[in-house]
Amino acid sequence: MSKQAKVIVALDYPDQRAAMRFVETVSPQDCKLKIGLQLFVAEGPEFVRHLSAAGFDVFLDLKFHDIPNTVAAACRSAAALDVWMMNVHCLGGRRMMQQAKQALASQDGRAPLLIGVTILTSHQPDEINDVGLCGDLPDLVGALARQAVQSGLDGVVCSPWEAATLRQQLGNDTLLVTPGIRPASVDHGDQRRVMTPARAIRAGSSYLVIGRPITQSQDPAATLRQINQEIAQVLEIGRENT
Ligand code: C5P
Repeated sequence: MSKQAKVIVALDYPDQRAAMRFVETVSPQDCKLKIGLQLFVAEGPEFVRHLSAAGFDVFLDLKFHDIPNTVAAACRSAAALDVWMMNVHCLGGRRMMQQAKQALASQDGRAPLLIGVTILTSHQPDEINDVGLCGDLPDLVGALARQAVQSGLDGVVCSPWEAATLRQQLGNDTLLVTPGIRPASVDHGDQRRVMTPARAIRAGSSYLVIGRPITQSQDPAATLRQINQEIAQVLEIGRENT
């Protein structure tokens, strides 16, 4: 069976043992897996290789942001881990994004998808101004997303609230990966601009990054199943209407 999963589960666990308690309850057809800073710093590249070898699509979410040469080298190292997707910060600039993409294209075999982080979904408009970025949040996100695509990236990470506009601006070939997803009844945590899974898919998200609503639920595998059903319904209705 091909891996059609739209949900990328954020494995924001302290260590491999805790992460594996969840991973052992799901299959690569149910979800993709995201390894972020917490787990990567704790367990290193071996655990990434382990999950890829088990057949999971792994999104290595380390949000590289450094000089172009360093980021390109880090991308080559990440590609060697057989990851499905990885990311850089768009604020690193065009040259950094271009060199990152070129570094991956020069790899033999399957190059990972490369996406750009526009503005973190935990940010509120006043925080953006505090760090010296001027202008409206949506304009800023749009400008960064366009730069990412012009630099050759496969897509961007964005808030689901930006997905509909970005889908229009960037077309259907650009991946929109959206964190900040919360099923209707769940606590928002530190995410500010949140949306339900069904609504995010309808808005044009390609993949949904979901962490705590799944990993901290009483029965994570069952919560994932429920979310997958909700998404399948939306996609089914979409197919019927085309
Ligand atoms: O627990 P929650 O569903 O909020 O997890 C969201 C995940 O998405 C976290 O791993 C976080 O690091 C990540 N993320 C995000 N905003 C971005 C990029 C990644 O929340 N812009």
